[in-house]
Amino acid sequence: MRENIILGIETSCDETSAAVVADGKKIMSNIIASQIPVHRKFGGVVPEIASRKHVELISSVIGEALEEAGVTFQDISAVAVTYGPGLVGALLVGVSSAKALAYSLELPLVGVNHIESHIYANFLANPALRFPLICLVVSGGHTDLVYLEGHGKFSLVGRTRDDAAGEAFDKVARAMGLGYPGGPLIDRLAVDGDPKAVAFPRAYLEGDSLDFSFSGLKSSALNYLNKAVMKGDDINKADLAASFQQAIVDVLVDKALAAAVRVDVKTILLAGGVASNSRLRKELDVKAANRGIRIVYPPPVLCTDNAAMVACAGYYKYIRGEVAPLSLNAVAGLKLGADRY
Ligand code: KG4
Ligand code: ZN
Repeated sequence: MRENIILGIETSCDETSAAVVADGKKIMSNIIASQIPVHRKFGGVVPEIASRKHVELISSVIGEALEEAGVTFQDISAVAVTYGPGLVGALLVGVSSAKALAYSLELPLVGVNHIESHIYANFLANPALRFPLICLVVSGGHTDLVYLEGHGKFSLVGRTRDDAAGEAFDKVARAMGLGYPGGPLIDRLAVDGDPKAVAFPRAYLEGDSLDFSFSGLKSSALNYLNKAVMKGDDINKADLAASFQQAIVDVLVDKALAAAVRVDVKTILLAGGVASNSRLRKELDVKAANRGIRIVYPPPVLCTDNAAMVACAGYYKYIRGEVAPLSLNAVAGLKLGADRY
């Protein structure tokens, strides 16, 4: 049988990416043009600059993805694109490009939710994963616990009520003068620090809630830094990084395990940029093993934004016949499982 070759396109934030993936599992190419160096001097993503950069890069990134995969447009079965959630101006670049390709080449168009694509990064490496599953999605914009009943069947069992975990990492790293994006820098610095050096709060919220809150922890870390500066104290940055990271990891690990136990699921998936965090992976691995739960996570390059995960999620939607009309629009606040077409 002919393979289903999907061209994936991702422009929801600061990575311009295009990928060619066969049957949702064979990555033929995954080109990622990161804008991180452009945004670094501003300490975070500047939406207007991100949109303009996507416009500059998108055609060549798509061309490169086809070339590296050794295919032409004639070999493509469908075009899958992220249409939300994300920065609306950035999303529009990918959506417009995908629509232009679908229209001119008479190819099916598939609109993909960005969170869904992060989850599906796990199926790229492990297509044989068995449902039901719990996925902890931890990125710069989201911290969600998702129950997966089957392909395309998701329900949210927990979410952050304020900051996302990645956002907290980025803001504290910025205040520490580490740079952008902060998560990987704190992760590296923490290796030489003592996670018990600074007593930071852990927000478990009421009773058995599976929701998260990181704004109190963020404020606490920022206050700690401000006080030290005012008193002229030296800060041990490695200890601070390790203690702050541990406070985030403790809550993420406890709630992910609690979710799996509550819905009686034996496999937890990790997804999103923060899923690369070495401490999170290690602690979840150890604590889950004690409870007979398996932890699955994608390789780091598939955790942060990339188009291979979009092509993978798009493949499963395409074979279910969930094709979008050419009127597909970008939806900045798109919710998981609430397709707008
Ligand atoms: O998934 P992603 O590329 O973009 C969003 O959809 O938000 O995630 C980016 C986020 C950033 O906040 C970055 O600091 C964080 O992931 N991140 C990490 C690590 N690598 C990336 N956070 C903690 N530890 C890491 N190793
Ligand atoms: Zn993302």
